[in-house]
Amino acid sequence: MLKGRNLVTPDDLSVEEIFELMNLAKQIIESPKEYSNACNGKILGTLFFEPSTRTRLSFEAAMLRLGGEIVGFSEGSSSSAAKGESLIDTIRTVGAYVDIIAMRHPKEGSSHLAARYTDVPLINAGDGGHYHPTQTLTDLLTILESKDTLEGLVIGLCGDLKFGRTVHSLIKSMKKFKDNKFILISPQELGIPEYVKAIAFNGNSEDYIEVERLEDVIDQLDILYMTRVQKERFFNEADYVRLKDSYILTPKKMQLAKKDMIVLHPLPRVNEISIEVDSDERAKYFRQVKCGMYARMALIMKLLGVEKC
Ligand code: NCD
Repeated sequence: MLKGRNLVTPDDLSVEEIFELMNLAKQIIESPKEYSNACNGKILGTLFFEPSTRTRLSFEAAMLRLGGEIVGFSEGSSSSAAKGESLIDTIRTVGAYVDIIAMRHPKEGSSHLAARYTDVPLINAGDGGHYHPTQTLTDLLTILESKDTLEGLVIGLCGDLKFGRTVHSLIKSMKKFKDNKFILISPQELGIPEYVKAIAFNGNSEDYIEVERLEDVIDQLDILYMTRVQKERFFNEADYVRLKDSYILTPKKMQLAKKDMIVLHPLPRVNEISIEVDSDERAKYFRQVKCGMYARMALIMKLLGVEKC
């Protein structure tokens, strides 16, 4: 039963609950009109203390398409945080106005804290370099659409695996499904943090390998998950400049890949996928954008415990 719960980390959802959400999202894709009044009279609060295009707008579009309403802010500087209000007080206040909250914040652990101070369901829309569980629901729905399974896949994650919260969340979730293997492709300095490895792989090094060159492994992949180097989380501009173009996916590299490999990217893209790749039918990152809205529609419905009407 998902009603009334929070989604803070990918571990808040069991495999059964993930499928429950995926199945509802698929039904919404098939007959969206049937869901257009599901959230009548409900309000979603979108509290974004960090920039966002897709996540915030897809949450808002999701709620509007379900017949609900939205309130919120798109930057901390336009909220009372700029006057020195604590996150806890902001959450207590907004929780008094709305039925469900989606929050993005630059501090790791902020959603966990916020969830303790409101009775309404709280969804983590990204907490610093930590987790981004609704991007993962987006990713899973896109994978299911293309591969018809979440098991037995070879998943290459490429780019900034250190600060990339979408990567941390996706690994944790895909580990729940049988026989998935992970190829972690990054410069050494941007490798996956030990805490993610420890939790996701539980010391079992057979499930993953770490490499530096995309060309060496691209032919083995069922899914290539490209990511942006997370400029805003670097302490030092020189390091960012040195590492930012570590990987650029080009049509030439795509020639080495399987005919049915899919390319995902949470977006925004900076340089890491050349625009010529967009017309390759294996490029699914704009479909992924659309899946994000449907996955969030399903999540909002389940956390509010509403049905189509
Ligand atoms: C990602 C994020 O915010 O972590 N974007 C998103 O939500 N689609 C990835 C990124 O910013 O690189």
